[in-house]
Amino acid sequence: MTDNIPEIIFDDGESYERFMGVWSRKVGAQFIDWIKFSKSLNFLDVGCGNGAFSVQIDDLCNPSSITGIDPSSAQIDYASRREINVPSQFEVGDSMSLPFQDDKFDASIMALVIFFVPDPKKGVAEMLRVTKPGGTLAAYAWDVMSGGLPMEPMHKILREIGIEYPLPPSVHASQKRNMKEIWTDLGMSGVETTTFYVKRSFKNFDDYWNIYSVGPSMSGTLKALSPETVREIKVKLNNTLERDSDDNIITYAFANAVKGVKTES
Ligand SMILES: C[S@@+](CC[C@H](N)C(=O)[O-])C[C@H]1O[C@@H](n2cnc3c(N)ncnc32)[C@H](O)[C@@H]1O
Repeated sequence: MTDNIPEIIFDDGESYERFMGVWSRKVGAQFIDWIKFSKSLNFLDVGCGNGAFSVQIDDLCNPSSITGIDPSSAQIDYASRREINVPSQFEVGDSMSLPFQDDKFDASIMALVIFFVPDPKKGVAEMLRVTKPGGTLAAYAWDVMSGGLPMEPMHKILREIGIEYPLPPSVHASQKRNMKEIWTDLGMSGVETTTFYVKRSFKNFDDYWNIYSVGPSMSGTLKALSPETVREIKVKLNNTLERDSDDNIITYAFANAVKGVKTES
């Protein structure tokens, strides 16, 4: 990535909710169904962001407790204000060095996070350290390299007109074979991967644009462009997006997922 591409910055939990939280939960529901967590687990949500997936753990997994950690204080602030029905705590921290004792959690997950971790294998090794033997470790991430990102229609137009845009720093970690390799190399058992396909509709183009243009991945790029270029992007995008019979805009995304179990040492 070159120096003049704006970074993806997570500094607004509320706009994140409209932009990505909705997408995250669409995959999250399928992910939870795939893993089939037992009841009464103590969960660690690594890179919990604004708590978009933490609330699904609460709603769908009958957990005993939820702990979330994320480097963004704005995201943690939003997550801390969510209504969660079991003991929960959200704190600022980094997956590369988790501030928890060994063997603390029953299940540790990363929802749309592994590709943001500078050294994904090290981040997962940390997650493994703090998970109890017999506990589940799992992750899902947009399949960036095969066009699975929700922003792909916008990215395609930017590529066509030669504008660079930011991607997460460790996109290779969103590939199933790389996920499987990390989980297997770290000695987990029962390692499996899969892909989840999701769809989202928007009532019109303004609805779509108002959500995407202020999201953490596009706002920096768009702010750096001239009004004419932004107009050109909007026109091309509006002409490209799929519509259903009620004229709603329909968009798609797909995410790869991995799960495994920490073996007894
Ligand atoms: C796409 S968001 C996912 C948030 C949430 N898990 C969800 O499902 O919506 C990615 C999150 O990863 C966090 N993140 C970035 N680098 C991280 C790291 N090194 N360790 C933990 N989280 C990180 C970001 O702050 C951001 O909140």
